[in-house]
Amino acid sequence: MEGLKTKLIVICILRVLSMCNQSLGIPGEYSIMGYDFVGYDLDDIEEGVALIFERWTEKHGKVYTSTEEKDRRFKIFQSNLAYIINWNSKRSPTDHTMGLNQFSDMSFEEFSNVRLSSVNPTESLLETISKGVKTTCTHPSSFDWRSQGVVTPVKNQGACGSCWAFSATGAIEGINAIVTGNLTSLSEQELVDCDKTSYGCNGGWTNKAFQWVIDNGGIATESQYSYTAKDGVCNSSAVKAVKIDGYQWAGRDEESLLCAVTQQPVSVSILVVQDFYQYTSGIYSGKSCPTDQPGNVNHAVLIVGYGTSADGIDYWVVKNSWGPSWGKLGGYVLIQRNSGLIYGVCNINAWPVYPTKNSI
Ligand SMILES: *[C@@H]1O[C@H](CO)[C@@H](O)[C@H](O)[C@H]1NC(C)=O
Ligand SMILES: *[C@@H]1O[C@H](CO)[C@@H](O)[C@H](O)[C@H]1NC(C)=O
Repeated sequence: MEGLKTKLIVICILRVLSMCNQSLGIPGEYSIMGYDFVGYDLDDIEEGVALIFERWTEKHGKVYTSTEEKDRRFKIFQSNLAYIINWNSKRSPTDHTMGLNQFSDMSFEEFSNVRLSSVNPTESLLETISKGVKTTCTHPSSFDWRSQGVVTPVKNQGACGSCWAFSATGAIEGINAIVTGNLTSLSEQELVDCDKTSYGCNGGWTNKAFQWVIDNGGIATESQYSYTAKDGVCNSSAVKAVKIDGYQWAGRDEESLLCAVTQQPVSVSILVVQDFYQYTSGIYSGKSCPTDQPGNVNHAVLIVGYGTSADGIDYWVVKNSWGPSWGKLGGYVLIQRNSGLIYGVCNINAWPVYPTKNSI
């Protein structure tokens, strides 16, 4: 088993090396987070991988408590590296690229446990969503709310399954900035600590977070109630700095979702699978996501815009909450739209919801 794995890595790396040689005109095309493998001794490639691991641990400030732990992490790292190299070497030109990132010493299973939401939508919620309103509208061919000054910098949820809170604050920040002209970063921690209709760091619901903010009469700002990435005791005397009036589900079809996005940033849920968490750039098309179960989602994000690539592929601009250094787009990911899939790529069309705000 171990022998096979090592062999796979050697083969993969050799393949990348030969690609590097062939494609010197486009340096970095097949490099892995800046490691282009040039200068590594071909006869001793395992040592090369160990060296890459050393450079990677330095870059990400990783400190392991024991040699056993370091060895274990190295094995996971090796297997992630093999996965990435394999993906990049087999991808079609329009597929996304993958690369090493801060999560590369974690297995996908482990990553899922600490970063993703373990709460799946229930059947009753599925019924609610089917009431999402179908709409049509006229719209520009591309649009990006970031250029309108209504999107805060990419945040980092840390080792806490609080994506639902980040998706919710992002959407409220957006509508608040659109209505009041005041872009203010809002508190995920207040939602994690106080919204008992969700499960804090164990996952939750963006729509219920909106309902909580409505019932609470507002939400505190980021600086008034700052993020700890841990479940904490609710401070019920927090300032109610920003209010919303209600929330709406958007229709699940492409046109309805697009119309909602032309109004404001929209919260959506997706299913994160293994080829997503080490995304670097390009349009993610979720080829390994199942396509027929809308309840199958484990992550909440925020659509802040849309466009079409030079290859003619339509995409959403999606704000993630894994920090600005995730991927090569500053913490954003492009996800294919108009995929022809009933619930969209990795179910991105299945749970579109946005807060409403009538006045200051
Ligand atoms: C709770 O929030 C209020 C208002 O911001 C603040 O004055 C108080 O110190 C906070 N309490 C705790 C325990 O953090
Ligand atoms: C924007 O809103 C925040 C939160 O309510 C408030 O503290 C700040 O003073 C406002 N800024 C402006 C320029 O109105």
